[in-house]
Amino acid sequence: MKIEFRENGSIGIETGGTLVLRQGEQEVLIEKPKVSLCRCGHSANKPFCDGSHKTAGFVAPAAVIELKTDA
Ligand code: FES
Repeated sequence: MKIEFRENGSIGIETGGTLVLRQGEQEVLIEKPKVSLCRCGHSANKPFCDGSHKTAGFVAPAAVIELKTDA
């Protein structure tokens, strides 16, 4: 799994195809190869990015985390 912290923006996650979002009592199956999560706190669609980081002037460096599962 790869997690990409985009410069001045969201957190991109390669899902492998499917993920489950649990919020309170709700559970939603999301079938997308990639999702973008908000890290600026301004999205109206949390936990997902809605592009609000651009107008909010969010500033943060880019980074990448790769999770190795075959250690
Ligand atoms: S990172 Fe895009 S709206 Fe927060």
